[in-house]
Amino acid sequence: MLDKFVMAPPDPILGLTEAFLKDSNPDKINLGVGVYKDNFNKTPIFKTVKKAESILLEKEQTKSYLPISGSQEFCDLVQQLVLGKNSPCIQEKRIATVQTAGGTSALRVFADLIRTNTEIKKIWMSNPTWENHGKIFQLAGFETESYPYYNAETHDLDWDKMISTIEAIPEGDILLLHGCCHNPTGIDLNKEQWTTIANIVKEKRILPLIDFAYQGLGDGLEEDALGVRIIADIVPEVFICSSFSKNFGLYNERCGALIGICSDYDTCQKVLSQIKVVIRTNYSNPPAHGAYIVQTILGSNELRNEWEKEVEEMCTRIKNMRNLFVEKLKEKGITQDFSFIEKQRGMFSFSGLKKEQVLRLREEFSIYIVNSGRINVAGITTTNIDRLAEAISKVL
Ligand code: LMR
Repeated sequence: MLDKFVMAPPDPILGLTEAFLKDSNPDKINLGVGVYKDNFNKTPIFKTVKKAESILLEKEQTKSYLPISGSQEFCDLVQQLVLGKNSPCIQEKRIATVQTAGGTSALRVFADLIRTNTEIKKIWMSNPTWENHGKIFQLAGFETESYPYYNAETHDLDWDKMISTIEAIPEGDILLLHGCCHNPTGIDLNKEQWTTIANIVKEKRILPLIDFAYQGLGDGLEEDALGVRIIADIVPEVFICSSFSKNFGLYNERCGALIGICSDYDTCQKVLSQIKVVIRTNYSNPPAHGAYIVQTILGSNELRNEWEKEVEEMCTRIKNMRNLFVEKLKEKGITQDFSFIEKQRGMFSFSGLKKEQVLRLREEFSIYIVNSGRINVAGITTTNIDRLAEAISKVL
């Protein structure tokens, strides 16, 4: 019965890590998967995470199941982190937050929720977008469409085309936006652009879904939440998928959240009950450890202040690497203008490198970049930057 199976291609991002691990070149560089590295090329555990873990080790009394929706304390703290303490949605109790197994499962839970409870069939995503977005929604039974986002000539936002496409989205479709640190381009919307989108979405009755996986890695924890908060203030129904892989470094703990904002309390309770059905039939209830770490840090003034500094450090290192990268490319005699890399935000930079150039970097120099030309700037260090810039100068 299984002989009709065909081999699936390797995952465009995680498959690259598999290939990287097999590479025996001692100077290999992995700039594929979005994982933060410090200047020693390590992905360290946050000091605050270690402190929270030692508190948990002492305090934890049981490994019994969490509720289907996860830890309530975690959910309360997370919705404040995302929307701000004074958010009207929180005060009006028209927000449902559940803990999920990372940001990916928040997206998938949302997809299953909407497919099983509404007539909505189509979701619009930016071109380009995170490699996994399309597949998550297609496997959940959605049709996917794209709206222009990136202008390859200017290396900037294709705002006019983006907004005219969004204006023409039919009522009742879903619009997927990246809350900050757009993956893969690193190009974000400004306040006016978020406000314009929020008003269109409200007027046209389009359902916004915000993927918010990089809060704090762009311009800061509060600054990066600007777009999410504008949408939440203007649009009555909004979904947000948060991830704590990057801003707490909890990659392998699979810790995220799905936040649903509804127009009133009653709708919110119904939505929450259906989210729980989706979770119960997928993975029953979420893993506890990551969420306990997050709530221990966010719930303590001292740990939270220390954590905020750790996030800021990451953010600053990434910005410094952007500047140094542009400088090094110039130093290697490259005349092509790469200054746009300094303007991009978050872990990623859409370098403009073509697929053939990316493949040459992999085969000839053991430098791993996603085929689209997306570079994980957070993987560049003062040690590997020369070799990287030199190799790029050879393939251009
Ligand atoms: C990425 O885009 O590299 C990260 O979000 C990790 C992943 O799961 O793809």
